Amino acid sequence: MRKSDILLLCASPRRMGTSAMLLKRIQAAAGGEIIYLPQKGSLHETVLAMQQAAVIVISGPCYINTCPARLIELLEEASLSGGFSGQKLYGVINGGMPYVHTHRHGLTCLQLFAEKNKLAWQGGFALGGGAMLDGKPLEKHMSRKKIVPAFDQFIQHIKEGSPSPDSLYEQAQTPPGRIMTRVFAKLLTLMVVKRIQKFGHDPEAPNWYLRGQE
Ligand SMILES: Cc1cc2nc3c(=O)[nH]c(=O)nc-3n(C[C@H](O)[C@H](O)[C@H](O)COP(=O)(O)O)c2cc1C
Repeated sequence: MRKSDILLLCASPRRMGTSAMLLKRIQAAAGGEIIYLPQKGSLHETVLAMQQAAVIVISGPCYINTCPARLIELLEEASLSGGFSGQKLYGVINGGMPYVHTHRHGLTCLQLFAEKNKLAWQGGFALGGGAMLDGKPLEKHMSRKKIVPAFDQFIQHIKEGSPSPDSLYEQAQTPPGRIMTRVFAKLLTLMVVKRIQKFGHDPEAPNWYLRGQE
């Protein structure tokens, strides 16, 4: 790979998921090569590809309010390897919850990685409601009217090599109000209860880890 290339790294184990869909959207407009973070084995090749790219875009899901552990492992390995010299880094994180503040930490991890390793942090895009999309086009997003132009503007920043401000994704997504949040929470609880029952368990049973203490 030449140093002028854009590396599009998918940090989700789901190759047809929302992280991958967002990268394909970037690729269609800005070019670049999509690679998938190996979920096991060596990360050496991935670190090498990052060192050789001029622009890196990492898109991954929000797991427990931050980046997936495997991505953190990659950042640690890349940090130990060193060899970065001004590569531009953009981040994308999508989470199931319809908020941006709960996903923001994933972008902060990438920013800290860039700042400590001589990469140039160019900003990122946090997307809420990503699980509902489940890899479907951004035009199906519940806030499509604001999200689509905002994400396309983010892509424009990548194309131009300019920094993308947080306000771009923050202003495109309004968190649901209190009533909607309650409805949403009830719905999610109902889904979890049904799933627990589907696998023959009792949703009312005490937590497995606490059982021994009773
Ligand atoms: C282990 C795990 C942890 C997750 N943690 C969160 C979370 O903390 N917040 C959230 O909004 N979504 C969470 N999700 C949902 C994913 O972020 C969401 O489904 C996302 O759209 C998946 O992206 P992908 O299709 O690119 O894999 C979690 C999913 C998994 C599997």
